[in-house]
Amino acid sequence: MTLLIKNANEVITLKSVLQGPRIKEQMREIAVVEKGSVLVAGSQIVAVGAYEQLVIDFPHLVQEAEVIDASGKIVMPGLVDCHTHLVHGGTREQEFNMRLNGSTYMDIMNAGGGIHATTKRTRETSFEALYKKTMHHLDVFLKHGVTTVEAKSGYGLDWETEKKQLEVAKKLQDTHVVDVISTFMGAHAVPRDFKGREDEFVDVIINDMLPKVSALELAEFNDVFCEKGVFTPAQSRRILEAGKALGLTPKIHADEIEPYNGAELAADVGAISAEHLLVASDEGIQNMAEAGTIAVLLPGTAFFLRAPFARGRLMIDEGVPVAISTDFNPGSSPTMSLPFIMNLACMHMGLTLEEVITATTINAAHALNRGHQIGTLEAGKQADVIILDVANYKQLQYFYGMNHTDTVIKKGQVVVRHGIVL
Ligand code: NIG
Ligand code: FE
Repeated sequence: MTLLIKNANEVITLKSVLQGPRIKEQMREIAVVEKGSVLVAGSQIVAVGAYEQLVIDFPHLVQEAEVIDASGKIVMPGLVDCHTHLVHGGTREQEFNMRLNGSTYMDIMNAGGGIHATTKRTRETSFEALYKKTMHHLDVFLKHGVTTVEAKSGYGLDWETEKKQLEVAKKLQDTHVVDVISTFMGAHAVPRDFKGREDEFVDVIINDMLPKVSALELAEFNDVFCEKGVFTPAQSRRILEAGKALGLTPKIHADEIEPYNGAELAADVGAISAEHLLVASDEGIQNMAEAGTIAVLLPGTAFFLRAPFARGRLMIDEGVPVAISTDFNPGSSPTMSLPFIMNLACMHMGLTLEEVITATTINAAHALNRGHQIGTLEAGKQADVIILDVANYKQLQYFYGMNHTDTVIKKGQVVVRHGIVL
């Protein structure tokens, strides 16, 4: 199957000779091809350039290709949402109302709500029901131009349910067109029945759960909620080191609500990314820049918790590679609209229109160890391509709060047409 996306106003390629995540001014270099076309064969991109050139270079492929007219629109890599709590039971709109009435996120969690409430619902929900619910969520992501999603466990906090969440994600990876990449996050909260015995739960994660996750190949990454009242930096370090020894790459929920040296820890243990970082210290940011730790910033969480936004502008200026993601979860960020989150990153973190594109494509791909495969439109890369109904990329954030996704191509197949999932 050959596809030709023809004559877009702009093709945002993000093409570069750089191998790693983009930093500083590299984040602004999005390599736009005007009046560009993209040629796809099978699941791969063959070439990006002017139509006239593609006809000369690949006459047979162009001739047999199904043509998608992209005139008047823009084309860019499929969005990568590199931090979500995708698989979970239930919703928590009543807690949202409690917060609007003055309760805090941590008060609610400490009283048995929050992550504990979702844990209860996730334990009660059958594999089939979770699978169906999450399938629907992936369709919504896809409609918003997202072609790869990370999925964290962490609403089981017991092996049976953690396994169920990871197996739902694995089945979806096989059955849904969106790529689902799993992170084990057994250390998302200390279960209620381990209260006062936190270190014992850390032992369960290290001695029981992590070896099983690794043996069953249920996840690539290992994440911890390092936060006052949840897991200390010392406990987080033990969990991340244990995962590393089993081949699981460390990620960390760091400095989300109170400063806790989470950014420093991320740099020190060689985490691929530190996530949230709303209140990360200057020193932590410096350490991350030196270590090359990717900052996965989640402006939806600050927005929805009415918390301070992470200092994205400063992080980029200091040389930290920045990615932006939804943090989709039922408590602190119940949105599947990465385009809306991109707008928040511009408005409240000071990212430019170019930086936010880099942060949701190639840098997000690197945060999932997929920078070689997705995140740019270059010959040889997987053909995850979206067509957006705007005249130029600057309009993406200018016409805010709307979904501009017209067409989504995943691994060379058209999966969304005129905004409708096929
Ligand atoms: O990323 N911080 C911890 N975990 C999620 C929230 C989970 C929840 O409230 O259910 C987060 O914000
Ligand atoms: Fe999160």
